[in-house]
Amino acid sequence: MKVRKAIIPAAGLGTRFLPATKAMPKEMLPIVDKPVIQFIVEEAKASGIEDILIVTGKNKRAIENHFDSNPELEQDLEKTGKSGLLKLTQEITDLGVNVYYTRQPYPAGLGDAVYRARSFVAGEPFVIMLGDDLMKDKVPLTKQLINDYDKTHASTIAVMKVPHKEVSKFGVIAPDGKIAPDLYNVKNFVEKPAVDKAPSDLAIIGRYLLTPEIFDILEHQKPGRGGEIQLTDAIDTMNKTQRVFAHVFKGERFDVGNKEGYLETSIQYGLIHPETRDALRKYIKELGKKL
Ligand code: UTP
Repeated sequence: MKVRKAIIPAAGLGTRFLPATKAMPKEMLPIVDKPVIQFIVEEAKASGIEDILIVTGKNKRAIENHFDSNPELEQDLEKTGKSGLLKLTQEITDLGVNVYYTRQPYPAGLGDAVYRARSFVAGEPFVIMLGDDLMKDKVPLTKQLINDYDKTHASTIAVMKVPHKEVSKFGVIAPDGKIAPDLYNVKNFVEKPAVDKAPSDLAIIGRYLLTPEIFDILEHQKPGRGGEIQLTDAIDTMNKTQRVFAHVFKGERFDVGNKEGYLETSIQYGLIHPETRDALRKYIKELGKKL
């Protein structure tokens, strides 16, 4: 079956960005001039995804408004001859993918947010894309997972090697041999292990391709780490009855889910954005002399 559907969970509280996220979703934080969630939707589209379900929560109206039209703004841009900006604005509405929304009433965990998509997924294989990570590679990471699925017909989770001292911030896999250069069999999936207990340095990085059987497991999933319904726990259970592979991502990952990563990503993207790159490069060089 073709992989056509994506879920973007965006109902978390975003506490690491308070106070910015008190009334605004963290997925709307911009990287230079584009909200994080737009990068994710663009990756989905570039990977051949047709239908996207965004799981939102309180204070998330801005996400729906962002992908909707804004006639007043469009009229003004037309009247003032700002055709470039008009095109940019309209392109977000005419993405060529269907975007749907549902709400998670309480931020009870990523597994709970994903479970809200059960009837949307309706028995098909699907992907989950988290706004915490932006990925750069020749082939979008989501497409890489879909290419794996076309060969294996099995669930596949994206992982990446991270510095050992950071493993406790991630879901981590215990690999069990390779079946292809970038594809591991997995013994266990462990959510946020202690550094000295981590089974490897291969961390789950926010792109998952799953078969729909995950919903039967999530339905009965008990709260795990932090009292939240953990997607990683459900994946570990599924791995006992059907194969779940880990795909090692070799491209560039930008972690925008914490302050430091967010600032670094903004600088990196600012250095390639045509409107900011020259001035920013000059500024950084000057600043470097003073630091
Ligand atoms: P995070 O733990 O990174 O997001 O969850 P958070 O909880 O919003 O952020 P902090 O830790 O408080 O700063 C990963 C993704 O899962 C979503 C989040 O929106 C984020 O995109 N999520 C998490 C939900 O949709 N629902 C939840 O109950 C938890």
